[in-house]
Amino acid sequence: MQQIPRLRLAHTPTPLQRLPRLAERLGVDLWIKRDDASGGVEAGNKIRKLEYLLADALARRADLVMTCGALQSNHCRATAALAARLGLRCRVFLRAEDPSAPLPLHGNALLMQLLGAEITLISAAEYREREALMSAEARRLERLGRRPYLIPEGGSNGLGSLGYVAAMEEVRQQLDAGLADGRPFDLIVHACGSGGTAAGVALGAALHGVAPRVVAAAVCDSAAYFDRIAARIDQEARELVPSLPPPASLSFEDKIAGRAPATASPRQSSCASSSMSPAPPASSSTPSTPARRSSPSTASSPPTLRCWASVYCFSIQVACPGSLPRARRWGLSS
Ligand SMILES: Cc1ncc(COP(=O)(O)O)c(C=O)c1O
Repeated sequence: MQQIPRLRLAHTPTPLQRLPRLAERLGVDLWIKRDDASGGVEAGNKIRKLEYLLADALARRADLVMTCGALQSNHCRATAALAARLGLRCRVFLRAEDPSAPLPLHGNALLMQLLGAEITLISAAEYREREALMSAEARRLERLGRRPYLIPEGGSNGLGSLGYVAAMEEVRQQLDAGLADGRPFDLIVHACGSGGTAAGVALGAALHGVAPRVVAAAVCDSAAYFDRIAARIDQEARELVPSLPPPASLSFEDKIAGRAPATASPRQSSCASSSMSPAPPASSSTPSTPARRSSPSTASSPPTLRCWASVYCFSIQVACPGSLPRARRWGLSS
């Protein structure tokens, strides 16, 4: 894996912290990997995947990166921030309920505008054809002499997943330094939106002896869907790094799909890369640019949790030494 080009973009190691009060309440020894602290505006879990994907983009002499996600996608926000940092142009396709509505002036959509990303809103139907759409746009840009690099939704392919293989090496080093009594965890739990984190964590947890078991809580889609996605990503990662061991046991929990906290709106939570993004505070009236009216879809959105902090939202790596029996109470253990 050392041979695969990687940029050092994230602020690492991110803290591995015990959560004593929640641990007591849940009856487990509970630790959290603070990937919300992996950077500034680019923080969150995507930066780890982008360390590999953007290294590849630069190696291929790309001058523009293109990706896609939900209207308030964390992945697209992180990609826009890192592209700006590296001097690359950024083109994003965002799925919107009403693609003709103005761009929201809050949350990740606002940050992407401030970061200079070129944004196109597309419908849910168009989003289903996102790979063909982005390929066609890439071909158009190539004809104009540009050098686009395509990043899939969530940065979730084999190359991107190596970011979480590397993250597990980081956890191993933290254990070796004495954190969590230096013992491997019984279980790692994390949020899953596009599958790359899950595939990478399962590979890295096995490679570095961090945990035998991973449960990925799907914020959208079904467990069966993510089983297929993770198998594909695992295969792609293995083609890049043939020495990878079989992954840790990986299962997807879809009982909470669409009910994640800090969800921008219940409707947004039904698709990948969308469900952890914040809505504006209840007290703020959404401003609009002089030339644009405010979005009707925003005005009629159902009540939401207001959670600005999750602009820099966390990819939760909760690990629980000695906790499997208790995890069963959460329904996390079959
Ligand atoms: C904050 C956060 N954590 C976790 C995830 C899940 O990561 P992945 O897209 O690799 O499944 C996402 C993306 O959906 C996210 O935005």
